[in-house]
Amino acid sequence: MTTRLVLSACAAFASAVSFGDTLIPLDETGLVRMRSGFGSAKSGKSVDGNALRVGGVEYRRGVGTHAPSTHRIAANGNALSFSALVGVDDECGGKGSVVFRVIADGKVVAEVAAQGGEAAKQISADLAGTKRIVLEVTDGGDGMHYDHADWCDAVFSFKDGTKPLSAAEMTRQLGILTPKASPSPRINAPARYGVRPGRPILFKLPVTGLEPIEVSAKGLPGGLSFDPATRILSGSIAKPGEYPVVFSAQNTVAGRVEFKTVTFVVGDRIALTPPMGWNSWNAFAGGVSDAKMRTAVDKIVELGLDAHGYSYVNIDDFWQKNPQNGKSDPTLAGPERNADGTIAPNARFPDMKALADYIHSKGLKAGLYSSPGPYTCGGCTGSWLHELQDAKSYVAWGYDYLKYDWCSYTGVQSGEGHDKYRRPYFLMGRFLAMQPRDIVFSLCQYGWDEVSTWGALAGGNCWRTTGDIFDTWPSVYGGIRAQAALWQYSAPGAWNDADMLVLGRNVWAGKGGGQDDSRLTPNEQYTHMSMWCMFASPLMIGCDLTTIDEFTLSLLTNDEVLAIDQDPLGAGAARVLENADEGTELWARPLADGSIAFAMLNGDEEEKGFSIPFAKLGMRGRWKVRDLWRQRDDGTFGESYSASVPGHATHLVKLSPVDGAGLKPCLRDIRDNAWRLPFDADRAQARGASAGPCAGCD
Ligand code: GLA
Repeated sequence: MTTRLVLSACAAFASAVSFGDTLIPLDETGLVRMRSGFGSAKSGKSVDGNALRVGGVEYRRGVGTHAPSTHRIAANGNALSFSALVGVDDECGGKGSVVFRVIADGKVVAEVAAQGGEAAKQISADLAGTKRIVLEVTDGGDGMHYDHADWCDAVFSFKDGTKPLSAAEMTRQLGILTPKASPSPRINAPARYGVRPGRPILFKLPVTGLEPIEVSAKGLPGGLSFDPATRILSGSIAKPGEYPVVFSAQNTVAGRVEFKTVTFVVGDRIALTPPMGWNSWNAFAGGVSDAKMRTAVDKIVELGLDAHGYSYVNIDDFWQKNPQNGKSDPTLAGPERNADGTIAPNARFPDMKALADYIHSKGLKAGLYSSPGPYTCGGCTGSWLHELQDAKSYVAWGYDYLKYDWCSYTGVQSGEGHDKYRRPYFLMGRFLAMQPRDIVFSLCQYGWDEVSTWGALAGGNCWRTTGDIFDTWPSVYGGIRAQAALWQYSAPGAWNDADMLVLGRNVWAGKGGGQDDSRLTPNEQYTHMSMWCMFASPLMIGCDLTTIDEFTLSLLTNDEVLAIDQDPLGAGAARVLENADEGTELWARPLADGSIAFAMLNGDEEEKGFSIPFAKLGMRGRWKVRDLWRQRDDGTFGESYSASVPGHATHLVKLSPVDGAGLKPCLRDIRDNAWRLPFDADRAQARGASAGPCAGCD
């Protein structure tokens, strides 16, 4: 095999490059932004992580991706040329076919088709004066199987000393928008709280404002007690029914008392609003320990995150033994189960019960993680053949949340068709429901087999809808796009889980197991948080709380934004309008108080002005608009509401009907537009006319 040396391909452009011009390898142009149809684009490696190899030749430098793939570069008129050797990686065994394209300001300026097994081909383009460059790989028209596409020795030349703009430089970036916390008391509790009959309740009233704040509870049913000093409500209610409790909060600042009714709904459903909390995985991955969990608990309280409603503190993978890693890490070694078959936590977790007790002592709830397979994704012991026994251990230790991650279950699965994917979740769902303790059941199987359609039936309170997300725009934006058809399955107690938050310092941004700041731009972080709240997704903070910065904290603690996530109606947002050419989209969800939350998402890199067109969406009358991030009224509007949204940002607003405003009768709720508008447009095209809004049902 021949090995090519770095950047030899730029020789082809020697004539276009003059002394002093800057050569910029493709992998130094913000690769985290490159979209890849499978996996993620890699520097110096194929998409599967092998050495780049095309037609038997190995290339040391370049980028491996998978069709369909796009990479956008803002050149600002400073680019001169691009050159690469392209082909399908040899790891596809001669299969696959793709087309590589270089697009300059919207025009295809170079195009090369490649088949698996062929030698790499030269692609080069003159980019003088170009503002926006797109590198694209399509599937060649025959589907994306085996389309592992390599841009080898890929290099741009830029005018002397210039370079492409970074993602953050391409557009105006939003700073902190959440206003400073008001000194007046505010109760941030969800309106409805589900519990099963007779199961222990632990509920800490989330209150913000200047301390000391005096709180009280009225209308407590028998069996419940409330401690105003700790703000913890505890006890249990034996009889099914609805029990409204009126909480009040008062301090010397506000001239009035703040009231909030929380209805304790005793029945067979729990998690009536999406669970909020913190999970160890994105902050520590396989490095979690009892000490780190306790620090996270302390930080949640110290930072006041609990006062905004974050209540679960969840250990992810690596509290169990790990036979593989245990060979080099003694803290993970030892017998995986005790003589009686009960699960044996690893040495980093000396006392699971004591940890749960500690979490509970702060009014918070404890969560843990397992797999229906013999081993978890990190290779720790799973629950295979010990499901009931494990459920009982969780109860004995006092845990309140189980994330149940498919992982190695593939190796032991049985059944045919749908059954194959569902069995382990139905099984654990039943075992958990039998327990004398409410345990939120979080399904983690990456959205397979349309889990949104059966997750609740299996006893799930939430289910992951995608593979793992990371702190990159393609990952978060891909996760958002994947939710488009899932809104209909979101309901109180049954939530689409778009995965844990990747805001703030996390291990994916760092190198070699260390942490670094989220690679998402500030705008992208607004989109992440806004959309998760629109989806009514569980909100699991994923960053290290000991190093959290003001900006991240401001994203996590905006009570008006969080109230969208926690809205008691539980309606997930649908994409009601999209302008694919512009990259802008409108998502909407109805709220319990009759208002509508809209997310104006700009998927393009450049700032875009766009609007919520009332008539088109079947909205009539006047609507009061509240900017939720800024917590500010924007005025009352009768025809449309417009905003200028920076690249990759989301503008989040709540529209409340004024004086009898509402939806046209043809709409059940605002989300009907998700099917109605494309349907109307198709029919209009078929008729050769333009469609009227809600044609025929005014
Ligand atoms: C899977 C899950 C992640 C995390 C890891 C732990 O990848 O999807 O959320 O729990 O396993 O190994």
